[in-house]
Amino acid sequence: MSDLPAGSDPRLASVLLSEVQLQRRVAELGARIAADYGGAGRVTLVGVLKGAWVFLADLARAIRRAGGPAVDYEFVRASTYGTGMKGAGEEGREVRIEGLSGPLTGKHVLLVEDILDQGFTLARIRAYLCEQERVGSLKLCVLLVKALEAPAATVAVLRRQLVPEYVGFEVPDRWVAGYGLDVGEEFRDLPYVAVIREECFRPCRGS
Ligand code: IMP
Ligand code: MG
Repeated sequence: MSDLPAGSDPRLASVLLSEVQLQRRVAELGARIAADYGGAGRVTLVGVLKGAWVFLADLARAIRRAGGPAVDYEFVRASTYGTGMKGAGEEGREVRIEGLSGPLTGKHVLLVEDILDQGFTLARIRAYLCEQERVGSLKLCVLLVKALEAPAATVAVLRRQLVPEYVGFEVPDRWVAGYGLDVGEEFRDLPYVAVIREECFRPCRGS
């Protein structure tokens, strides 16, 4: 953790991952992906909107810098938490998927996500890509993986089944924002990842 820049929004608690840490790690991931897919000829990066757009933009250029394969781009939109934060002890959640511009049948797909929290989103999208789209291969690339403190039993099972091939950082079980991630649609454009003061975003009791 490092200090926030002077004059930062008071709803931010601390910098969890600095710009330098993020750029260094994304370059490493890009180099690994370039090496792993080198022989495949072509890979489709499927970004999960909205949170993954900043990560995906940097990752795509890191893959190119490392001399990686030809890349196609697709985006899916998965609606989960709406505009707020998750509730305590959630056991499941509807995830709606939309946005592909064409079929992915038979393609090598790398699913790019901002954060793996309880796993509902990635599990649902992974099943969709495998069962509906029938992709040729599928790997997961996630910038942040949350170390959950007290997951519900179903969530613990889901998380064990979801082990991304590429992970940027493991982060504590706090709400984080920046580098594409939001809280109530704010802070996506921070160049670093910050821990937010959750008390500033919880609805007031009785309102
Ligand atoms: P999951 O389905 O519980 O894994 O939640 C994943 C989705 O919730 C992510 O794609 C994010 O959009 C959102 N999310 C989960 N935790 C955070 C967080 O700490 N900050 C911002 N968004 C988050
Ligand atoms: Mg997301």
